Amino acid sequence: MRETEQKAARAYKETFGGAPELVASAPGRINLIGEHTDYNGGFVLPCAIDRRIAVAAGTGEGGLYSADFDERREADERDDSWADYPRGVAWAMGEEGHEPGFFRAAFAGDVPLGSGLSSSAAIEAATALALDALFGLGIGRKNLAVLCQRAENDYVGVASGIMDQYASLLCEAGAALLVDCRSLEAKNVPLDLPAAGLVLVVCDTRVERGLADTGYNDRRSTCESAASMLGIEELRDATEEDLERLSGEELKRARHVISENARVLEAVEALDNGDFDHFGHLMYASHASLRDDYEVSTPELDTFVETAKKHGATGARLTGAGFGGCAIALVPEPQSDKTIQACKQSFAEAEFETPSFYEFLPAVGAQLTRS
Ligand code: GLA
Repeated sequence: MRETEQKAARAYKETFGGAPELVASAPGRINLIGEHTDYNGGFVLPCAIDRRIAVAAGTGEGGLYSADFDERREADERDDSWADYPRGVAWAMGEEGHEPGFFRAAFAGDVPLGSGLSSSAAIEAATALALDALFGLGIGRKNLAVLCQRAENDYVGVASGIMDQYASLLCEAGAALLVDCRSLEAKNVPLDLPAAGLVLVVCDTRVERGLADTGYNDRRSTCESAASMLGIEELRDATEEDLERLSGEELKRARHVISENARVLEAVEALDNGDFDHFGHLMYASHASLRDDYEVSTPELDTFVETAKKHGATGARLTGAGFGGCAIALVPEPQSDKTIQACKQSFAEAEFETPSFYEFLPAVGAQLTRS
């Protein structure tokens, strides 16, 4: 078992007595390309990261315990804490006609919280896989992801799309996941970074994503109004000619969604051809579109992307919702230390918060271990 899984199992024993019946864990994610397309019925290309949240679970009462917060909470009282995620998953299962019984669970993880690497999807996905196995529900991973999204939307109250939960449950090691967010078809796209001599550098700008919820919801509703002006269900179906019929924010947001969906498909083709230069070019174009048309970047995210570009990155862009959080860069391996140093220096010169850096390889999705 991984360290986080062992930690969750130990916490279970100490909190509830006895060993857990099973341990599950699920990763956070970064998105390589395809931003703000999921809730428009479009395409995304995330990959799981090597940071996970683990849950050790058993049947019976006893509540929920977080080893990271050293906090025990009731299993069913909604209280705006971390425990709403696992509660929400059990609730969503009930809403869909499944019957998870009483359960107790201990959690431990190392996904950075609140930085846009989807710790919430990780805790939901780990809980979903654990409850599915604990109560023999046989739900299947795609439906578990949909349940997790329902938990996040309707129980926790955050209007996210399907990308993060899909990535956490369905990604495979050494691959990105192409998801068609309308049909919910997903396909692994091999991404052997070591063979290409590249590393994936993640920069956490440490900027509070305080306005993220309002900004995110605004973007969603502008997309909906653009779609309804065009008389279509979702912006996935909009074409470049349609843009002539839009103006103002609707025009800009729709232009991003149309161009971003095309970039995802082109990026997958580039990966299939091993053409990382073109892939990187598409990452830069995605960032520019998110900055200028979708208007979700920040000075910190722009500084990272510009500095990485100047110092030899193959491609770079903000990842996730924006408004702070993280950016990523694909960097030739021998240069990665220099690129990171240069970014640290640019941040210091601009008097930004000191960023954190991580290097990840595309990791495996949610996994289950029976004790
Ligand atoms: C957040 C949401 C996702 C997706 C991205 C933007 O991460 O949870 O569903 O919409 O923002 O691409």
